[in-house]
Amino acid sequence: MNHRYPTLPTAALATAIALLTGCASPALPPTTLPTPAAEPVTADGSPPAPTSVLPEPEPEPEPEPEPEPEPDLDLSAFSTTDPASPWVVVNKVQPLDPMDYAPDDLVVVRGYYVSSVAADDLTALLDAAEADGVTLTVRSAYRSYAKQRSVYDGVVARNGQPYADGVSARPGYSEHQTGLAVDVGSSTDSACDFDACFASTAEGAWVAAHAQQFGFLVRYTAGDEAVTGYAPEPWHLRHVGRPLADAMAAAGVTTLEEMFDVDGGPDYR
Ligand code: DAL
Ligand code: ZN
Repeated sequence: MNHRYPTLPTAALATAIALLTGCASPALPPTTLPTPAAEPVTADGSPPAPTSVLPEPEPEPEPEPEPEPEPDLDLSAFSTTDPASPWVVVNKVQPLDPMDYAPDDLVVVRGYYVSSVAADDLTALLDAAEADGVTLTVRSAYRSYAKQRSVYDGVVARNGQPYADGVSARPGYSEHQTGLAVDVGSSTDSACDFDACFASTAEGAWVAAHAQQFGFLVRYTAGDEAVTGYAPEPWHLRHVGRPLADAMAAAGVTTLEEMFDVDGGPDYR
């Protein structure tokens, strides 16, 4: 038998199925689609150039604030005569008091005793030199009264007292006894260690340029012999702390005697 089913339009068929199955059929798409917005065209029919989108203007950079001038350093903040002071001045007319003074805060940096006050800056200086490829090393640091006597007596024995007094301090008159002085040299070529030619080495040039940044002075400078009392020692660094080292550099002052207006000179009293 050949049944023929009546032909129903699609929408009517969907409605019939929904009624029979109880299932709602998905909404059918509307037969009339909304008209798209007209594309803008140019006179010749070509697509218009895309509307240019201007970039957001860069915010104006904040003007750099002018650096505040450093307040004047109070030069009376620390004693220049107390042997435990970070600013103590030790020279041929201002010996340590007591003469056999020994610091009670010595610590070891790279195998040498120094005052704890100088330790971090010394370590930072040596690390910075190494980072710059400079083979700086410590050759001498704290020396006791007895050690200073043996150093001075050795120079006298080899070269005579007049010469010795121009290059080596008598015991009780050396910054090395405070733990604040460090003699540096080269770890790879010691030919100029403790010699004037150290100034011409990479190590000597580095400390001349950078010691101040770490709170050290090259203490016995060329041209200052009449003030310091000693021949130039481009290897002898004296820790005074960064504020004083910076203030001296800013003022163009190279000796502690001139900075603090205290006596010095080549003669013992
Ligand atoms: N060479 C320096 C002056 C000292 O002996 O302390
Ligand atoms: Zn020295």
